Amino acid sequence: MLTLAIIKPDAVESGLAGKIIAHLEAQGFVVRAVRMTRLSKSQAQAFYEVHRERAFFGSLMEYMTSGPCVPMVLERDDAVSHLRTAIGATDPAEAADGTIRKLYAESKERNAIHASDSPENALQEIGFFFSGAELGLSAG
Ligand code: CMP
Repeated sequence: MLTLAIIKPDAVESGLAGKIIAHLEAQGFVVRAVRMTRLSKSQAQAFYEVHRERAFFGSLMEYMTSGPCVPMVLERDDAVSHLRTAIGATDPAEAADGTIRKLYAESKERNAIHASDSPENALQEIGFFFSGAELGLSAG
């Protein structure tokens, strides 16, 4: 099964992308596609559309467009739930020991990594960043 992760601008800026990928690979995830990109405001708004009415939306847009991020497609058995477990709670103060957010996140907003929250959203979020050709699904 595939899922989507995004190493967020705070972690990229802090030079943690390699450590986070190594952490995920050590937990059995295989990187199927990866790229570095800086989200435009409209891309960030579209990706986080579900949060548009939240008080933190403006701040989240500032943060997610503040620098490059690293979206990637990860494969593992039961990838969506295993990745949610591996990254930990949204707020690093509440994240379990050994999780990526506990190890590397700065705050509830600047929380180092995003992971899809359901298999349906994983497919949609993978399609947001990657084409079938980039996933090796066609000759491109
Ligand atoms: P993510 O898993 O990408 O989903 C939505 C993001 O909004 C979340 O990670 C955080 O970066 C941010 N977020 C969620 N809740 C809050 C909050 N209460 N205050 C600020 N940012 C938040």
